[in-house]
Amino acid sequence: MCGIVGAAAQRDIVPILIEGLRRLEYRGYDSCGVAVLADGEPRRARSVARVADLDVQVRKAHLDGVTGIAHTRWATHGAPVTHNAHPIFSRGTVALVHNGIIENFVSLRDTLRGKGYEFVTQTDTEVITHLIHSVYQGDLFAAVRKAVQQLHGAYAIAVMHKDQPHTVVGARRGSPLVVGLGKGENFLASDTLALANSTDRFIFLEDGDVCELTLERVRIADRDGHDAGREVRTVAACGCAVELGPYRHFMQKEIFEQPCAIRDTIAKAGSLDSPLFDKVAGKVFSKIDSVLILACGTSYYSGLTAKYWFESIAKIPTQVEVASEYRYRDSVPNPRSLVVVISQSGETADTLAALEHAQSLGHKHTLAICNVAASAIVRLTKLAFLTEAGREIGVASTKAFTTQLVALFLLAATLGKLRGYVDSTLEATYIRQLQDLPAALSAVLALEPQIIAWAGEFARKENVLFLGRGLHYPIALEGALKLKEISYIHAEAYPAGELKHGPLALVTGAMPVVTVAPNDRLIEKLKSNMQEVRARGGELYVFADADTRIVNDEGLHVIRMPENYGLLSPILHVVPLQLLAYHTACVRGTDVDKPRNLAKSVTVE
Ligand code: G6P
Repeated sequence: MCGIVGAAAQRDIVPILIEGLRRLEYRGYDSCGVAVLADGEPRRARSVARVADLDVQVRKAHLDGVTGIAHTRWATHGAPVTHNAHPIFSRGTVALVHNGIIENFVSLRDTLRGKGYEFVTQTDTEVITHLIHSVYQGDLFAAVRKAVQQLHGAYAIAVMHKDQPHTVVGARRGSPLVVGLGKGENFLASDTLALANSTDRFIFLEDGDVCELTLERVRIADRDGHDAGREVRTVAACGCAVELGPYRHFMQKEIFEQPCAIRDTIAKAGSLDSPLFDKVAGKVFSKIDSVLILACGTSYYSGLTAKYWFESIAKIPTQVEVASEYRYRDSVPNPRSLVVVISQSGETADTLAALEHAQSLGHKHTLAICNVAASAIVRLTKLAFLTEAGREIGVASTKAFTTQLVALFLLAATLGKLRGYVDSTLEATYIRQLQDLPAALSAVLALEPQIIAWAGEFARKENVLFLGRGLHYPIALEGALKLKEISYIHAEAYPAGELKHGPLALVTGAMPVVTVAPNDRLIEKLKSNMQEVRARGGELYVFADADTRIVNDEGLHVIRMPENYGLLSPILHVVPLQLLAYHTACVRGTDVDKPRNLAKSVTVE
């Protein structure tokens, strides 16, 4: 979702801004732009194509300057056309980029129109630009502080004024923004990755902060206007993660990185003990009697899977909620619940807001499962477990999901041990199974050629049904999500027992039915559900554990998985579904890593 880069330096900053935008491309965008202060005027270039196209434009136009802002836009208000792309100008004086949504933009626009401001875009952003222009009295920092007080909604902004040639002002509420500290130069960006080539010293702005960057100085005021002393953190550059290597897409690379990502994630888990989740986790865990999981998208499905583990291994009642629903519904808080927020990015607006909502209801026991150490969600929770997936670039989440599952399994088993349900023999078994998981995953990845053979068939379909039961129902949901996200084929998932209550009406030879078939205690029930499909002429594509004895037949296509992997089986079974979605999308020729309309980091609600 929208990405921001800004810089005040003594050298031409256009290459830094373009490089920053390239590094933010993974978040998802539909247009981009850059503006610099050159010869006392803001000049800009914008594109509805890729950052590479913007780069060509700025070179052709010889756009250069020592102060600048840049943006990747994910349209919310107004179509993704050039005139709506940021930076947005006000009267050739103020230039601004914005990530977020201004909820009161209509009333602000009417007021500003009354003052003679002309609106040339359909964006909510343009009101901020004119608003800042309208209150400017020679001090951009003061003008931004005054203007943001009138905004309702979420924003991260970077602003320049033609009369302040070495100054960039930023502000945030709800959407992320970091300050990067250089020597004789300073930067702003949506995340640290954008500036990985320029600095490793960062300040994470807090909600309500307004900052002013000049060459030598960074000034920050908090929401009350007081000078805010924010901590400077060193964040190691991880630029290597953006290299594609021998793979065709980042998604494929990330699918194949899963054995390694899981090995790194379990490396710290020599035993199942609470310090894995923080040194005060033992104290917190001793006070809880239930778990409330909040997340969005793929992370929500890892939460759904975990519910089965929490209730069966730790016998602890568990509730899983979509963050965007929880944040607005009336709920009955239980202060003894452990609130677990799951997020790859740690910046998802709805998850963040759901966490804050839970805290406002009195929930004190909070734990983040997150892939980004320096993220808002990790900063806001009491406890945290960091997954070691490495930077995930593909919009469709893969290795972040499986590492989240590993983290959640560790949490379930740790709680199970604390509550007396996991003895030392079981603990040793769990640890061994986790340690063997990377090798088991590699065996599943070796199934890729067989999956490619299926993908050709799937690419011609418009609808696909996914079935699973128990612990593997959330895996069927995740398989359907992967397919729709990147191949644009309509896909939905059902618990196989529900087939007869509706979806069976859709079953014909034209709609493949993908079935997740682990050899668990529900396998005979699942086989009966498969018969229901076959009896109606449906085509089944089954990922079956080797010990299920499900074999190829008419209307029944089988890929044999390794033998059943017990409670950790979902982590193996999701992998062929990721590969099926990936190869189907490749056959259809979609933009796999940046599917249409989707964003990696959803920083608006
Ligand atoms: C977006 C991404 C998904 C991700 C979801 C939640 O929709 O495209 O891949 O699962 O956000 O993101 P989070 O960073 O909170 O896990």
